[in-house]
Amino acid sequence: MIGIISAMDSEMKELVRLLTDKKKKMHAGLDYYTGKLNGVEVVICRCGVGKVNAAMHTQILIDLYKPKALIQNGIAGSLSPDVGAFDLVIGSELVYHDMQDFVIKNFEPLEPVYYSDEKLLNKAIEVAGDEGGVHVGRIATGDSFVSSSKEKQDIFKRTKALCTEMEGCAVAHTAYLNKVPFVVIRCISDSADDNASVDFGEFQNVASDCLVDMITHLVKKI
Ligand code: ADE
Repeated sequence: MIGIISAMDSEMKELVRLLTDKKKKMHAGLDYYTGKLNGVEVVICRCGVGKVNAAMHTQILIDLYKPKALIQNGIAGSLSPDVGAFDLVIGSELVYHDMQDFVIKNFEPLEPVYYSDEKLLNKAIEVAGDEGGVHVGRIATGDSFVSSSKEKQDIFKRTKALCTEMEGCAVAHTAYLNKVPFVVIRCISDSADDNASVDFGEFQNVASDCLVDMITHLVKKI
């Protein structure tokens, strides 16, 4: 069984549509779909937006479905000038951009960086191919929709992450504590700048759908 966790309906609805032998169950108020994606047993959960929802549903998914691997997919706002609209970002490492270094260093269980599983990462890179627009690197997670150039620059300066979103590191954190291999894969919907809200509204569905092919192929390789 492979677990797939997305925050929003737009990020998982096409994957759910592709499921065969589809079944639905509710846990903590949200729907979990099981079935076969490209012939592979998966469970797909729409965890909701933000770190608490992501961590909570990652734990539920791990406890109830015992996945051998977790894929966290969705859209993101670019932080780096090298990362453009609809580019793919495969997160080799995940950090929180809204937790103080002092807290991370002095309290447990917290890590400064959560690393995606190397084997999963390499499989994701292989599936993504080398046609351009694919980046491998750091993703920064926090509980805010970043929609100002000032905030974007501040996060980029502090984290040097390629993009920002609101769940990846919380999933990574939970998976790490449970010793479940994970990888985070995101497609860029906006530039996390003053235009972000408009771009997000316009491009979230297209950006989400950019990942469907890749995830469908990836599950077959895990
Ligand atoms: N997900 C997609 N775009 C985002 C942004 N600008 N900030 C946070 N999460 C996002």
